[in-house]
Amino acid sequence: MKSFLNDFCQFLRKYKTSMQTALLLLFIFFFVTLYKIQYKTGIEIIPFLPIDVSGFDQYNENLLVDIDISESALSQQKKGFLFCWVMTAPIHHTSRVKAVNSTWLPKCDAGHFYTTNGHHLSQKIPFHTIFNALPDSYFKLFWKTRLALLYSYKHVSKEFDWYFKGDDDTYVVVDTLREYLKQFDHNKPFYIGYRLKRRMPEHGYNAGGSGYAMSRAAMKIFADELYPSKDLCPYHEWEDLAIARCLGSKGIRPTDTRDSKGRQRFLAWRPEEHFNGDLTRSFIYDKVEHKGFEIYHENLISLHHLQPDEMRLIHGILYGVSSAINKQVETPSTPLETSLSPPNGTIIQ
Ligand SMILES: *[C@@H]1O[C@H](CO)[C@@H](O)[C@H](O)[C@H]1NC(C)=O
Ligand SMILES: *[C@@H]1O[C@H](CO)[C@@H](O)[C@H](O)[C@H]1NC(C)=O
Repeated sequence: MKSFLNDFCQFLRKYKTSMQTALLLLFIFFFVTLYKIQYKTGIEIIPFLPIDVSGFDQYNENLLVDIDISESALSQQKKGFLFCWVMTAPIHHTSRVKAVNSTWLPKCDAGHFYTTNGHHLSQKIPFHTIFNALPDSYFKLFWKTRLALLYSYKHVSKEFDWYFKGDDDTYVVVDTLREYLKQFDHNKPFYIGYRLKRRMPEHGYNAGGSGYAMSRAAMKIFADELYPSKDLCPYHEWEDLAIARCLGSKGIRPTDTRDSKGRQRFLAWRPEEHFNGDLTRSFIYDKVEHKGFEIYHENLISLHHLQPDEMRLIHGILYGVSSAINKQVETPSTPLETSLSPPNGTIIQ
C-alpha cells in the first residue's frame, strides 16, 4: 500500500513537470508567433518586441535610379505656390487616376502621381514610378510616404511654397485650399489637414486620406533632419500617425484647421458619415459640432473615400452647375454667361 502511494506521488510529480514543460513550450510558441507577426507587419502588439526597420536601409533613394517619369510629369511647373502629389497603385490606374487627373489635380501649380509601374498609364498622365521596388502592402505605406515626401522636395522641386499630399480617392477644392494656405507663412513649418487623435492623444496627427499640406519649411526639415534618422522618424504601421510622430520630433504639430464657426475644412470619412455625424469616436480629436448640410460650407477643402464618378460629379457641380447660380446671386444685373470659371467662395477666417 505504502509503495503504491509512493509510486502514485512520483507519477504526479512527473506528470506535473511535463505539464509545466508543455505550458512553457506553448508559451514560447505563442511568443515567437507574436514576435514574427510584429516583426513582419510592424503592428505593435508587445511594446518591447522589435519591429522590422530594415526599410530604412532598403527603401531609400537608391530605389530612385531606375524610375519612369512620364512626359506630362516632366512638363509640370518647377516652381510656384502649390505642388500636389497623389499616392496611387496599379489597380487604380484606369479608374481613380483618370478621375483625379481630369478633375482637381490640374488645378494645382504642379500635380504628380506616384505609383509602382506605368501599366495602362499614358504619357499624358503625370506619373513617376518611385515605388517600383516597394511591395504594394499596407504595411509598407510608411516607407512609401517617407520616400514620396523626400522625392517631392529633393528630387522634383524645392521651389514650391506648399506641398499637398492627397490620395487617389480624395477630392480637393484646390481654389479654396489655395486661399486658405495664403494666410500661413510657408517659411515656417506647417502641417495642415484633418486632426485625428487615436493612439496619439496629445497633439494628434493629420489623416492621410483627406490630405495634408506641408509648408516648404516643414519639407526642408523633413528632408534634411528627419528622413535620415531612425530615431526621430521611426516606423509605425499607421503611416499617417508615423508621419505626425516624425514631424512632432521636431516640434511640428498639426494645425487646428477648423474655421471660425468650428467647421472642419478637411473631411476624412465618407461624406455621408460626416453628414450623419456617424464618426468613430476613438479617432475624434475635435468635438463634432456640425453635421447635416453644415459640413458642406464655403471653406470646405477636401472629401475622402470617393468613387471616381463621385469626384466627377462634385467637380461638375462646383465648376459647372454652380457658376451660373453664383453669378445670378452675386450680380443679378449681369446677364448669365456660359463661362465655366469657378465661383469665388467667401473665405471666413
Ligand atoms: C491628364 O491631365 C493633363 C493636365 O490637365 C492633361 O493634359 C491630360 O490630357 C490628362 N490625361 C488624360 C489621359 O486624361
Ligand atoms: C475670382 O477669382 C479670380 C482669381 O482669383 C479673380 O481673377 C476674379 O477677379 C475673381 N472674381 C470675382 C468676381 O471676385
